[in-house]
Amino acid sequence: MKNIGILTSGGDSPGMNYIINGVLNAAFIYKFNIFGIFNGYKGLYENKIIQIKNYKLLNLNNNGGTFLGSSRFKKFKNENIICKSINNLKKKKINSIIIIGGNGTYIGSKYLIKKKISCINLPGTIDNDILYTDYSIGYFTALNTIVESIDNIRDTAYSHECIFIIEVMGRNCGKLTIAAAIAGKCEFFIIPEIKFNINNLINEIKLKILNGLKNAIIIITENIYNIQKFSKYIKKKIKKQIKTVILGYIQRGGKPVVYDRILGYSMGTYAIKLIYKGYKNICIGIKNNKLINYNII
Ligand code: F6P
Repeated sequence: MKNIGILTSGGDSPGMNYIINGVLNAAFIYKFNIFGIFNGYKGLYENKIIQIKNYKLLNLNNNGGTFLGSSRFKKFKNENIICKSINNLKKKKINSIIIIGGNGTYIGSKYLIKKKISCINLPGTIDNDILYTDYSIGYFTALNTIVESIDNIRDTAYSHECIFIIEVMGRNCGKLTIAAAIAGKCEFFIIPEIKFNINNLINEIKLKILNGLKNAIIIITENIYNIQKFSKYIKKKIKKQIKTVILGYIQRGGKPVVYDRILGYSMGTYAIKLIYKGYKNICIGIKNNKLINYNII
């Protein structure tokens, strides 16, 4: 019987629970023991490792978030912390871990690989900023929530003839922003990947107002501007009400959309199949609608 650990780390994302369910179901078939490592790398260090025997967990599967819990644990690079974490794994005879999270989480796996623990990384983040995968788990749910929020905000923008600036998550990646801009028919978007000039934006807004624009939505990725200051600046130049909304954690939670559920579940089962076949130290992704794996770089 092989013992496999599983953890979720970094920002939770809707669909993570489906990955876990996929893993549990496939592990049952291949007769692997699955150990839940609670609260990410922090829980690994604190030895919060419990064998999941009770498949009742499966009943919780349409929630967002992660029922394994998560954390950001920046200290997970310190040699003593890594060694203690490895010891905790050894005590339970675990030598493979399924790791679900974003870029920061993937970095953590490199420290474990150096200590001969095999890691299988799965993309769980709303940001969709992971290399070599077209989509990460949680992205489409977050996108859906953002677009619904834009639709709601549009009602007020229309009724009061004003301009809204909406800030969305994504860390340093504009994929959520640009997709939401298209789906929500935002008049303007600002993303980290495209150099932006505020005066050009103001001129464009003025021109559109001259051509009949009455309300508008400017969508912007977080970490580019302080949007309160940004709105004050625009307000000085344009005689229109400007309102700001930071969507925040509303966009990270919620029941996963069907795509995140199915993709999450499929990736989870795929991870177990690959472990069964002897694969080690890989990341899983989806490319052109096919599940893929590639070596952790
Ligand atoms: O990585 C997911 C994410 O929600 C990013 O979009 C955002 O920048 C970050 O996490 C926020 O993290 P925290 O909740 O730790 O502040």
